[in-house]
Amino acid sequence: MALSSPFLWFLGLLVSLCWCWGTTLASEAKVGYGYRMTSLEESTFNGGSLIGYLKVKQSTSKYGPDIPNLRLFVKHENQDRLRVHITDADNPRWEVPYNLLPRAPPPPLTENLKTSSHFSAPSYPGSNLIFTFEPDPFYFAVTRKSTGETIFNTSGFDFVFKDQYIQISTQLPKTASLYGLGENTQPGGIRLRPNDPYTLYTTDISAINLNTDLYGSHPIYMDLRNNGGRVSAHGVLLLNSNGMDVFYKGTSLTYKIIGGLLDFYFFSGPSPLDVVDQYTTLIGRPAAMPYWALGFHQCRWGYKNLSVVEGVVEGYKKANIPLDVIWNDDDHMDAAKDFTLDPINYPRPKLLEFLDRIHSEGMHYIVLIDPGIAVNSSYGVYQRGMQKDVFIKLEGQPYLAQVWPGPVYFPDYLNPNGVSWWVDEISRFHQLVPVDGLWIDMNEASNFCTGKCVIPTTHQCPEPNSTTPWVCCLDCKNLTNTRWDNPPYKINASGKSAPLGYNTIATSATHYDGVLEYNAHSLYGFSQAIATHKALLGLDGKRPFILSRSSFVGSGSYAAHWTGDNKGTWEDLKYSISTMLNFGLFGMPMVGSDICGFYPAAVPLEELCNRWIELGAFYPFSRDHANFASPRQELYQWDSVAKSARNALGLRYKLLPYLYTLIYEAHLTGAPVARPVFYSFPEFTSSYGLSTQFLLGSGVMVSPVLEQGATSVKAMFPPGSWYNLFDMTKAVISKDASLVTLDAPLNEVNVHVYQGMVLPMQRGGVISKEARQTPFTLVIAFPYGTDGAEANGKVYVDDDERPEMILVEGEATYVEFEASVKGKTVTVTSNVQMGKYSLSKGLMIEKMSVLGLQGKGKELAIEVDGTALVNTTSVYFNHVGEVQEEVEGGSKKGMLVEVGGLELPLGKSFSLSWKMEIVS
Ligand code: NOJ
Repeated sequence: MALSSPFLWFLGLLVSLCWCWGTTLASEAKVGYGYRMTSLEESTFNGGSLIGYLKVKQSTSKYGPDIPNLRLFVKHENQDRLRVHITDADNPRWEVPYNLLPRAPPPPLTENLKTSSHFSAPSYPGSNLIFTFEPDPFYFAVTRKSTGETIFNTSGFDFVFKDQYIQISTQLPKTASLYGLGENTQPGGIRLRPNDPYTLYTTDISAINLNTDLYGSHPIYMDLRNNGGRVSAHGVLLLNSNGMDVFYKGTSLTYKIIGGLLDFYFFSGPSPLDVVDQYTTLIGRPAAMPYWALGFHQCRWGYKNLSVVEGVVEGYKKANIPLDVIWNDDDHMDAAKDFTLDPINYPRPKLLEFLDRIHSEGMHYIVLIDPGIAVNSSYGVYQRGMQKDVFIKLEGQPYLAQVWPGPVYFPDYLNPNGVSWWVDEISRFHQLVPVDGLWIDMNEASNFCTGKCVIPTTHQCPEPNSTTPWVCCLDCKNLTNTRWDNPPYKINASGKSAPLGYNTIATSATHYDGVLEYNAHSLYGFSQAIATHKALLGLDGKRPFILSRSSFVGSGSYAAHWTGDNKGTWEDLKYSISTMLNFGLFGMPMVGSDICGFYPAAVPLEELCNRWIELGAFYPFSRDHANFASPRQELYQWDSVAKSARNALGLRYKLLPYLYTLIYEAHLTGAPVARPVFYSFPEFTSSYGLSTQFLLGSGVMVSPVLEQGATSVKAMFPPGSWYNLFDMTKAVISKDASLVTLDAPLNEVNVHVYQGMVLPMQRGGVISKEARQTPFTLVIAFPYGTDGAEANGKVYVDDDERPEMILVEGEATYVEFEASVKGKTVTVTSNVQMGKYSLSKGLMIEKMSVLGLQGKGKELAIEVDGTALVNTTSVYFNHVGEVQEEVEGGSKKGMLVEVGGLELPLGKSFSLSWKMEIVS
């Protein structure tokens, strides 16, 4: 449907005239004059789409000549997703490779549609989105069918399409709240701030740098709008791997991209969770995670030898703090070379013994690898790589860089030979050391030199026995003479003045098939994650675990992420929440920050580390990691931190079945594990910028202390009943957005469950392997004192070995729980799908902890698989805390009713009911 009404046409003209006048005064030289549509046809391509052609109105020379003819392809890919793809009509252009990110390709460029000037309307009756346009100057808009609201509108702005410079903008209403566009440390919180820079280009810039392009590139934003109570969210992805600046000005958003093409995907929402669902339908669902990966992880750069690592594991045991995974940074390597072992400090026989021991206890071991392969003719990994010609090249030679081991070459994961060589190297390494996962670091890719480098002839590089072999000592010259190294438009990469190839691979270097690093740069970590995933899958077919620093659209299907090099400061503690929440939107929900901080800071660590583990225990990916220069910061180093860790991780380990079920949900629907509060309460406008609290799943609120010296926290709770999970007799009954002051002594963190939830918990423990065998408790949260209320929840269990999480009889079980309180009768039922797996593991429910009831329970009846249980002698009611006292004292005020002594097999459907007697 074109915008054909004369009124709209005139309005558009007026807007653009006013706007043009304003900007011509403000800016010196115009970059482009836009395009005019010459034809538009409905096409039968791929079940119906629109194909149009655009002609440049007037070319300018700034940033290079305009591309004369463009081809527009519009497709309603499904009812929630609209694609607008604009490219050069005459020459193929670079776009994210279809084998890397599988999706429907647009039609090939064809000649025969160019002459017709037949304008027709796109039709897709089932679509929630409508595409509209004006032909001259060409602009397009996307509106929501149900409300007529415009969600994207390029009208009134320059539309420029040159080989190395593309510019397009959209209008935004004042009511828009935007999220996403990362990776970026956002001191202002999760909601994007007008005028902050958003540059997308993968760089090894540490997370302590604010508002700067960091390790990943995710050109997606979510726009949440509340128009007088009518709330809706939508998503906009610009699928493009080239460097770009995004300028968000409050009432407009402008992309300035240095290559590729425009491939927009609009996701109609209307809820935030719908947006993530629709987005991950396109880019791939988040990877399944092994159960143990939800346990606690300990790492440090600087575990000098195996005894130190053994000591750390011992330290955790002694302090009775949960620990599932112990990591090595590059310390286990021989001279920082991938896939090797230091024969002195990590002798293989001893390491294998250690691994046997920890594996038998259920612990796991992960090591780091870097993409840079040491240039060393006696190093097998290098030799085989050279034989198979797998390295990225510059002027026909492998591109020389310098990283931890000294001079290195970078494997090309876009090269099929590069992938098969990598798969083989991982398999060889796995025979050397049976690691349980891999950490792929420095994969932006990071290079400590810049430009075109050679091994120097005048001095040795690195010097023999150098303690800093990574410090750039190659002979390098800056590359400024190619348009790839020195493009006409400079994005704000790595902080304004740095060239595009600064501390990375020169952008004129080439990958397989002549692909320019200039185009593929931000795909490096993504392509490495795909190759690594393939390698791990090939080992024994078990579910892989990969942690990747660099990421792109789609990385979440292969890897988890940590937020990179932060610092032990209170600010970094706070910022970690926003970055974590952003990665949920990016389809990479398994995310966390280095707990206690990576770099040392001049801040006393003990109190901070207490607070950090209290927050970090609820990161989806929970790992303590530090730099060698930091003081030791394992959680047992201070008694106070150990206490906080036992408390917070103690709860995490009880919540593991819930967290694992959230991973399942993420894998099925993209729903993030850690979510901004507005995901569950989109109408609750006060939560739109809330970045100091977050939800796990739909209704477990984490309200950490983020300020030094604080012993209470001011927290916001959407209206309803919220029960403290540490002490269930404490509740917050919230009516509005006013802040509630919660006690938070040093060793305590506030975690609340919301009314309406049935939370599956277990007894916990210090290792997930054991914790997951323990009996379940269902925490059932009713709105406080309300008759006629309901609650529900679910749990997914499997043996975590199959790469995907799917319901297969005998391998997985899924149970839904429903609870209600009506006319003083409480009923709890379960509905089991594929119960066999859980039955074979003997998983039982031992208790229900029911919150929000008044009175005292009696007349319990239990049915399992439709048959009434006669012998219920072991079953008891317990009225805890406040209830206990008050029942005895005759009060009506009740909080926690426990039904204990149950032995309900999780794998069998049950029904349980009782009456609440009001004691007066
Ligand atoms: C950079 C990573 O971000 C950091 O976590 C790691 O410790 C160092 N590389 C050393 O490998």
